Amino acid sequence: MTGPATITVPVRFTANGTRHEITVDPRRSLADVLRRECGLTGTQVGCEIGVCGTCTVLVDGDPVRACLMLAVQAEGTTVETVESLQQDGRLNALQEAFRDAHALQCGFCTPGFLMLGTALLREDPAPSRGRIRQCVAANLCRCTGYTPIIDAVEAAARSGQE
Ligand code: FES
Ligand code: FES
Repeated sequence: MTGPATITVPVRFTANGTRHEITVDPRRSLADVLRRECGLTGTQVGCEIGVCGTCTVLVDGDPVRACLMLAVQAEGTTVETVESLQQDGRLNALQEAFRDAHALQCGFCTPGFLMLGTALLREDPAPSRGRIRQCVAANLCRCTGYTPIIDAVEAAARSGQE
């Protein structure tokens, strides 16, 4: 006796400038496919239920919890992960600000905060501290107490770059 046939479907999207055409089980999350099929392991997976935000990536420029989005829903989109932030192998201004402000300790949450900050600074290059606070409240950090993360986004905004 044979088991039920596994259904797979094709999905095409661009991740960090690279076009991907993959056949996936339609139940797989975007986070899982980014990590396992695209090799983009900078996207972390914590709670897998949409609470912690460490899996945050940008889909067509908007922050998305990649553990809650099915990979097939990424059809035709442009995805950006934390790996896209480096410029010619160097940290970008937001990443440098995180380093300089000690905005990471264990670092597990950091990719999600960097992508949130990237989206915020694109939309509002000079956000108020209150707006930064409101933005980063979307994600969980168990180590830093948030103040250094807010300081880092504020410093990156002051530097005039992401
Ligand atoms: S792993 Fe996606 S929100 Fe926690
Ligand atoms: S630095 Fe450890 S959870 Fe944020």
